[in-house]
Amino acid sequence: MASLTIRKLDEGVKTYLRLRSAKNHRSVEEEVRVILRELIEGREEPLTPFSAPPAPSAATTPQRIGALPEASVTLIIGGGIAAYKSLDLIRRLKERRIEVRCVLTKAAQQFVTPLAASALSHERVYTDLFDPQSEFDAGHIRLARDCDLIVVAPATADLMAKMANGHADDLASAILLATNRKILLAPAMNPLMWNNAATRRNVAQLQRDGVVLIGPNSGEMAEAGEAGVGRMSEAIEIATAAERLLRPPVPKPLAGTRVLITAGPTHEPIDPVRYIANRSSGKQGFAIAAAAQAAGAEVILVSGPVDLDDPAGVTVKHVESARQMLEQVQAALPADIAIFAAAVADWRVANEGEQKLKKTSAGMPPLQLVENPDILATISKLTDQRPPLVIGFAAETEHLIDNAKSKLARKGCDWIVANDVSPATGVMGGDRNTVHLISRKNGEKDGEIAVDSWPVMTKEQVAIELVAHIVKSVTDKSLEPAS
Ligand SMILES: Cc1cc2nc3c(=O)[nH]c(=O)nc-3n(C[C@H](O)[C@H](O)[C@H](O)COP(=O)(O)O)c2cc1C
Repeated sequence: MASLTIRKLDEGVKTYLRLRSAKNHRSVEEEVRVILRELIEGREEPLTPFSAPPAPSAATTPQRIGALPEASVTLIIGGGIAAYKSLDLIRRLKERRIEVRCVLTKAAQQFVTPLAASALSHERVYTDLFDPQSEFDAGHIRLARDCDLIVVAPATADLMAKMANGHADDLASAILLATNRKILLAPAMNPLMWNNAATRRNVAQLQRDGVVLIGPNSGEMAEAGEAGVGRMSEAIEIATAAERLLRPPVPKPLAGTRVLITAGPTHEPIDPVRYIANRSSGKQGFAIAAAAQAAGAEVILVSGPVDLDDPAGVTVKHVESARQMLEQVQAALPADIAIFAAAVADWRVANEGEQKLKKTSAGMPPLQLVENPDILATISKLTDQRPPLVIGFAAETEHLIDNAKSKLARKGCDWIVANDVSPATGVMGGDRNTVHLISRKNGEKDGEIAVDSWPVMTKEQVAIELVAHIVKSVTDKSLEPAS
């Protein structure tokens, strides 16, 4: 039987489901089940007044390259004084774009209310193993599995004893026994309870079982005059530990490498209000910048006029014309890798008008074109500051491979990423790309030209693949014996 992950649905659908489930006092999953049942029985609830807002379209939503992936946590709150800190933990997790669904033990409800947890998590809170509303489809199994991580905070001595011995006589312990997700425990208890031989045995067993612990810290206890190890870690420490488990740090193979990238079109002025442009959106260059940054590189992106957000963690220089782009590229040197993905105009207007050109009876003003500087060739042919790896892009509408091969030789760069930009492909301005990586075999200057054709991919996937090739080339070079 297929399963449905709510958080992977469109934003508009999720918003509709959240509003409708809140109105009906159900969890989002229960609401989906009710909708499906009603559909089958032919009595679907009307969508108004909770109709879904229109899902944001790609055209109206700015690209959020480098956004955090969504994640969800089932947070079990145990019955200890530190339970109040778990309310702050809900907030801390949500600030990190981690969805939180709370389970409160019976004892926990003596310290904090389900209402407070529900208000902070914006979700229904679960308290009972035998809850007819969620148990018609084994709710404890769903709570155990429909999340990416289970956090127990505070983890009481009692709850850890139950876990270590495989008990399942309430909702919290049943979830912990039924889960196949990673578990993070934040123990909190009196130092004597923490140091008790039974607790020590249980903690050791849980660690052997692969459960991760954060804390406890040492400090003052709630009990007057008592201090020692047993204080629950602060909410921010637990949230950071949870985030590390959910989003483990990715390797940074390009750390210490400076990458220069150009992107977008250039605008070549005709007069103060008009310009010559092309249809480049800049998406491919921006995606490469984000991928190189994610791989740990220091990235300088020189961009022509585009309608995209600057990628996070990237230094962006905004320019208009080809000459400004060359200036910024030269100013950004030295670099270890240069990737010229911009669609630079080949020509500009020689006789740019100082004032807006007027219609006259003499007819159209003659537009004299002159050649723009060739940024790729200029940088490829540098003698002292040439980046060790120079990659150009070839946007062609015919004889793609032949033109790209001759461009590789003519410009003096190391690789060419060739793409067919004829209107039928939808590449210019679109989200997908079909590229061919043209390079010299074994990286030799006069080596035979190799063509590696990639399948149709999103521009983000092309970027990731290109960065992977760069990483391999950089790693292979660093392994070569010094001559
Ligand atoms: C005022 C008060 C504070 C407590 N604080 C803790 C505590 O910090 N840690 C702990 O392990 N137990 C603490 N307990 C005991 C637990 O509440 C008790 O063991 C309970 O059965 C735990 O249930 P649970 O693990 O299902 O939440 C406390 C009890 C009381 C009355």
